[in-house]
Amino acid sequence: NKPKIIDNFGRPHTYLRISLTDRCNLRCFYCMPEEGVQLAEKESIMSLEEIIKLTTIFKNLGVDTIRLTGGEPLVRKNFGYLVEELSKLGMTLKITTNGILLDKYLDLFKRIGLKKINLSLDTLDKARSAFITKRDYFDRIMQNLEKALAMDMEVKLNIVLIKSVNDKEINDFVEMTRHKNLTVKFIEFMPFKGNKWDWSNGVGKQEILDMVSEKYGKIEELENPKHSTSVNYKIPDHKGSFAIVSTITNPFCSDCNRLRLTADGKMKNCLFANSETDLLTPMRNGVELDDIILNAIKKKKYSRDGMDVKMDADHFEKNRSMISIGG
Ligand code: GTP
Ligand code: 5AD
Ligand code: SF4
Repeated sequence: NKPKIIDNFGRPHTYLRISLTDRCNLRCFYCMPEEGVQLAEKESIMSLEEIIKLTTIFKNLGVDTIRLTGGEPLVRKNFGYLVEELSKLGMTLKITTNGILLDKYLDLFKRIGLKKINLSLDTLDKARSAFITKRDYFDRIMQNLEKALAMDMEVKLNIVLIKSVNDKEINDFVEMTRHKNLTVKFIEFMPFKGNKWDWSNGVGKQEILDMVSEKYGKIEELENPKHSTSVNYKIPDHKGSFAIVSTITNPFCSDCNRLRLTADGKMKNCLFANSETDLLTPMRNGVELDDIILNAIKKKKYSRDGMDVKMDADHFEKNRSMISIGG
């Protein structure tokens, strides 16, 4: 299908991130406010049939890639049924997960051709993992990572870097790429409602590159796929690669092709967009959604919802918490 969802800057939107649930089996402090979040009522969450129907509408408007997110997508009831149905739409399917339940689904993923798995893993240290996630699933996640690699999944590790928490582990992660065919993706800490964001706790792209080159010397720059949100590198001779998502220090919005759908059926134009467009209610009322979607995209701003580099606190406190956006 020809891309039809085009914003005022002429950017065709062909990539949709769908949050399947706002629930999660971890409690990472950078994602979820300490006091927790108000979970959506069951009736306000898209049913599996509604997710499939909405995805089909986006497909007909030219979306060709879906990334399933959460909260934690694998805690969604009947996830297996949903992903199998979605795979029948013939789009590229990807998932971002914390890995706790991954072993249950690897065979299914293999069968339906879902190969791209991004796994949140902020540390290689068990005690630090318990500190970050407030849960004790480290061993299970590491086992599931190995299982996924053994099944030739395309795995990327997501590492949100926080100063004095896991920034000393950057080169340990890069070292993993020596013999393992995976990408370790370092992510600059981003501001969302209730996560007490403070850039003085963040680690920027240049700092990361400096630390890596201090240990490894030459860093090879890789070609970045079109619309990529990360810049990609590798250490010569290493089997895997590493990447940096530099939203704060080097935003990459000019070629943005991304849309988001929250678990309660709201379309978000941008990760940082405070205004949302309800698709679920009109769909339940039998209203045609094409025009609603095509109008909503016209409200998209050029970059980071128009925020400047300082990312003013008021703006992101009006956004959702990351747990209910899904990244
Ligand atoms: P690909 O689909 O392989 O490009 O993965 P991804 O890196 O976009 O997705 P993932 O779910 O692994 O997210 C990794 C980090 O990138 C998270 O911190 C996301 O919030 C962030 N991210 C994903 N999409 C965007 C985006 O459009 N803009 C910004 N600023 N950050 C994004
Ligand atoms: N800043 C940057 N990335 C974040 N994620 C969650 N919260 C934040 C934040 N505040 C990442 C997680 C997950 C991905 C979907 O979003 O690591 O892998
Ligand atoms: Fe697109 Fe917004 Fe992400 Fe920039 S911050 S790449 S505009 S979704």
